[in-house]
Amino acid sequence: MSIDNAIKYKFNTGDNVLYGTNVICTSKKIGDLKQVFQNEEARSRMEQESIVYSVSLLQPIEAGTLGGLFIGTTIIEQGQVDQEYYMTKGHFHKNTSSSEFYWGTKGTGMVLMMKTDRTYHIELMSPGSIHFIPPETAHRVINTGNEKLIFNACWPADAGYDYETIYNEGFSCRIFNQHGIPTIIDIEK
Ligand code: F6R
Ligand code: ZN
Repeated sequence: MSIDNAIKYKFNTGDNVLYGTNVICTSKKIGDLKQVFQNEEARSRMEQESIVYSVSLLQPIEAGTLGGLFIGTTIIEQGQVDQEYYMTKGHFHKNTSSSEFYWGTKGTGMVLMMKTDRTYHIELMSPGSIHFIPPETAHRVINTGNEKLIFNACWPADAGYDYETIYNEGFSCRIFNQHGIPTIIDIEK
């Protein structure tokens, strides 16, 4: 019997961001988010190097492994493109039977979940809130608060990503700041 004293991975006390050996950090800048926001012209005029969100990702097992799990922290900066709040690109999972958990740790926002028939529902995210994303459901998080939004996610290692469907068809609603109030606007396809 042996005890492994070293903590391999942990959530940083304070900001709750995942860190440790093999944690991969990526970020999405304004310049990476073409066609994501409604006002593409406004996005193209913004500072292209400015970070919209960052992900710290731990893949302790090879992608595609049946039964494996991944975990990651996402930090969405506070900001807007025109009146639309900063948000993640959003995706379906390639393996459509995969589900996922999101849970909020800092800031406030919305989790948008959309089925393949384009019906959607929204859950409010705040520190401690837990969100179950069922199979065949696209998901995106929107930072509607007045600070960074930080949340964690855990999902199957064989889930994969389908970004293309959302890139081509978008979500069926968008969230705008209208006079300081997060407002949900339905979008026709
Ligand atoms: C993984 C997952 C999250 C997101 C992250 C960034 O299945 O849902 O870790 O990958 O919040 O969002 P996207 O991937 O939509 O750019
Ligand atoms: Zn996902």
